[in-house]
Amino acid sequence: SGELFTPAVVVGSGYGAAVTALRLAEAGVASLMLEMGQLWQTPGLDGNVFSGMVNPDRRSYWFRSRTAAPLSTFLWLDVVNRNIEPYAGVLDRVDYDEMSVYAGRGVGGGSLVNGGMAVTPLRSYFQEILPGVNADEMYAKYFPLANRMLGVNTIAPDFFERTDYYGFARVSRKAATAAGLRTTFVPNVYDFDYMRREDAGTVPKSALNQEVIYGNNHGKRSLDKSYLAAAVGTGLVTIQALHRVAAIRRHPGGGYVLSVDQFDTAGTVIARKEISCTYLFLGAGSLGTTELLLRARETGALPDVSAEVGRGWGTNGNVMTARANHLWDPTGSRQSAIPVLAIDAWAGYENPVFAEIAPLPAGLETWVSLYLAITRNPERGTFTYDHATDRMRLAWTRDQNTTSVNAARALFDRINQANLTTYRYDLFGTTKPFADDFTYHPLGGCVLGKATDLHGRVLGCPNLYVTDSALLPGSVGVNPFVTVTALAERNIERVIAEDIAA
Ligand code: FDA
Repeated sequence: SGELFTPAVVVGSGYGAAVTALRLAEAGVASLMLEMGQLWQTPGLDGNVFSGMVNPDRRSYWFRSRTAAPLSTFLWLDVVNRNIEPYAGVLDRVDYDEMSVYAGRGVGGGSLVNGGMAVTPLRSYFQEILPGVNADEMYAKYFPLANRMLGVNTIAPDFFERTDYYGFARVSRKAATAAGLRTTFVPNVYDFDYMRREDAGTVPKSALNQEVIYGNNHGKRSLDKSYLAAAVGTGLVTIQALHRVAAIRRHPGGGYVLSVDQFDTAGTVIARKEISCTYLFLGAGSLGTTELLLRARETGALPDVSAEVGRGWGTNGNVMTARANHLWDPTGSRQSAIPVLAIDAWAGYENPVFAEIAPLPAGLETWVSLYLAITRNPERGTFTYDHATDRMRLAWTRDQNTTSVNAARALFDRINQANLTTYRYDLFGTTKPFADDFTYHPLGGCVLGKATDLHGRVLGCPNLYVTDSALLPGSVGVNPFVTVTALAERNIERVIAEDIAA
């Protein structure tokens, strides 16, 4: 079959991939991006590209027959999820034995489905987790660059204080303050000028219409509006959507060959392609990148891939929990889907927690305060390759989350005691007030300085690079995409200078 050749291939189109494609193009290197999800730009029959949260349809999930929201019940009733047609939807939930991982699918990766919270980590913690990376350089150059390129902005305090849509966050702030805790505004890539106009009723509502994890139809500066727009604008980047890279191997003449399946939105494979390249950049996310390298190593296609690939994976200590407020503290039937406030109990705490105050966009009064807590959890999972299914398995047990649950419990017990409130027990499909069986922040699997060198070069495989969240060692202490972006900027600059321009 006709083999296609291109100088560089970038697998995936999330943060690491988007940075890489843009900077390669600026250096004059053409690249082909292969993305297994769709290009989300064509409106459906309802006039919207994405289906929204209230009545999710097939556009919401990646090949599932029922939606699988993290908050799955209300008063223990299975009223949240609904049946859908299996389809190449925008949000995936990958279920391993005792841990489920959410990830975005589409041109823009996680940027299409995430909450947009754009947080630069505490410098002391960054230095602790990645001691081999020059922090001076990161904080002087690459974090500011990432923030600028991503279009990070912060909500205006006067708007936050007056709009109905952040009543839920003000109630949570009051409860935290009563317990002597500090809250902080969280920057975001959602355009807060647009949100003000939503509030004023002059533009179509998106965040204020409960849109987030199944895609925002307006207002969010996802990667297709920032890095990827710039990359495509150079004329040197081609993106092919609905193309899944199944396997990679070495090209006998140098470089790499990719086996690629092109499929339709129903999942039927319509073409099989072999694409070869000189430089191969993996930006398929923590799971995607790790699986490609693990498969290559274990099938003998790239036997020199380090034994470190598959190790050092973590959940960023994610735990979700919810509190019940008093009747005189309603959280509001109108809630912005974009979180802007967090309880910052990290620096100086023995069991640190950074807890975003999350909306519960139910469209009715629930008196619920919902939180996604990021904790410091030293436990790590390990991936192995299963030859029978050609997929990877995750060795991670529920008890590995005990540290995270205990840290969250200590914090929220303190808030409950100070306010004479309780947990909500009905929201997570069980009677437990903590959801510790999923993560939004999969990190690691190909850790920087272990499976790769200190700039993401895969050890033992010349011209093969990891660009994404697989590089981070299981924890960053805050929402991860700013760190993924900044690290990708740092790494590609070095790779272009030393491996390509030279
Ligand atoms: P990312 O996962 O973004 O992209 C990888 C891409 O590769 C995907 O598009 C995928 O389809 C594609 N791919 C995978 N395998 C492939 C293959 N074999 N062939 C072709 N393509 C393949 N973070 C944050 O900082 N603030 C926040 O508010 C949130 N909120 C949040 C909410 C939800 C619901 C989720 C799921 C995640 C978040 N996150 C977040 C996390 C954040 O989105 C995540 O850390 C980044 O998207 C990771 O970026 P990567 O570059 O690693 O890959």
